Amino acid sequence: MTFTRRHVLKTATACALMPRLAEAAPITLTAMEARQQIAPEGYPDTAIWGYEGGAPGPEIRVAQGGRLSRRLINRLPQPTAVHWHGIRIDNAMDGVPGLTQQAVPTGGSFDYDFTLPDAGTYWYHSHNRSMEQVARGLHGPLIVDEASAPDIDGEHVLVLDDWRLDPDTAAIGANFDNGHDLSHAGRIGNLLTVNGRFDPAFRARPAERLRLRLINAANARVFEVGLDGMQGWIVALDGMPLEEPLVVSGAFPLAPAQRADLIVDITAETGASASLLSIERDGGYGLCRFDVSGQGAGAARAAPAPLPPNPLPVIEGLADSPLHQMRLQGGAMRWLDSALLGETEMSGRELAQLGKFWALDGRADRSATPFLEAARGSLHRIAFVNETGFDHGMHLHGHHFRLIAPNGALGPWRDTVLVAPGETRQIALVADNPGDWLLHCHMLGHAAAGMTSWFRVT
Ligand code: C2O
Ligand code: CU
Repeated sequence: MTFTRRHVLKTATACALMPRLAEAAPITLTAMEARQQIAPEGYPDTAIWGYEGGAPGPEIRVAQGGRLSRRLINRLPQPTAVHWHGIRIDNAMDGVPGLTQQAVPTGGSFDYDFTLPDAGTYWYHSHNRSMEQVARGLHGPLIVDEASAPDIDGEHVLVLDDWRLDPDTAAIGANFDNGHDLSHAGRIGNLLTVNGRFDPAFRARPAERLRLRLINAANARVFEVGLDGMQGWIVALDGMPLEEPLVVSGAFPLAPAQRADLIVDITAETGASASLLSIERDGGYGLCRFDVSGQGAGAARAAPAPLPPNPLPVIEGLADSPLHQMRLQGGAMRWLDSALLGETEMSGRELAQLGKFWALDGRADRSATPFLEAARGSLHRIAFVNETGFDHGMHLHGHHFRLIAPNGALGPWRDTVLVAPGETRQIALVADNPGDWLLHCHMLGHAAAGMTSWFRVT
């Protein structure tokens, strides 16, 4: 049979009504306003900003070496952009307004499309006015599966967060630019959540072996994570497998933006619960629990094998590599005398009036010249010298780096390093990803108030 003009038209009309198969519609990631029950039952729900209307946003899961493409659609009342935290990504896809792309205006969209070289636990979050947009809920988990999964009975992705909610209305406190938060520890919340819910409960079986993928999405809180009713190992940090799993004994810190992959064995008996705890000065608070029921998972197993390594660069000749100091300066009690803002030297008082309380190596905010200009493939050491009275979680974009222990030994791969007051932490960086990359404190108020710098790989 031959197509008449009528047939063609009819077919064309039908096609317009059906999803097109040949030219698949891009998968969207819509940043939008929504409501969610954040506070415990009995409290009102909370107006949030979330990807696809949830905080956290949808879990994105891709196979190692695969491609991720998402069309960001902005339905927020502010411009926005998505950063794919911890991914060794093409620079143009890094999601930093003013450095790698323009912010996406309200009603606009942007197509992200990139490959994922490394397996592990990552996350995505807004990188525009992030101290506000992340606090309102614009973040989600990004999981890259290894080709051969570890021997486990189940897995949970656990996004840890803290919210600052009004105790009566459960509304998000909107005073994001307040000078006290900016100049002190940052925006610390009054309600801890896992996956956007207060004290959620999961199920487990006795002696079950679980992989827990922890992501700290809080603005400023350093969680001290403890385990109760389970015991286990840290097998990866910031997505990258440890060479040897590390037994969890007591609490371990998880700074904003950091991740830890645990493999745990449930030790709580049927009818009891295991818990993930936030250890505070006055004791441990339950973050989420695993109610144990049913039959045991069998005999206790040996310690888990390391996860398969990611294709990270080799570090050689560390002692001969250039050492760059980055001094972390300012904040309450150690107020800045002066610093550069743009190309202008300003007094601490002038800077404070502009909401700048911190500096990285004498610069309060990203200046025209990068902190470091590195030839592609070159090895560098950076020493973060914390001269302030507060913790800072220093994050580099587009790269992972290795911690250097005080004795010079190479430590784990990370993308965010916690530097305590008075402490100096050295890292080893193979600058192998070309482009302009941000380097900043991941206490998001600190980043906004001066702790933002950048480096260039050419
Ligand atoms: Cu989590 Cu500049 O990023
Ligand atoms: Cu900081």
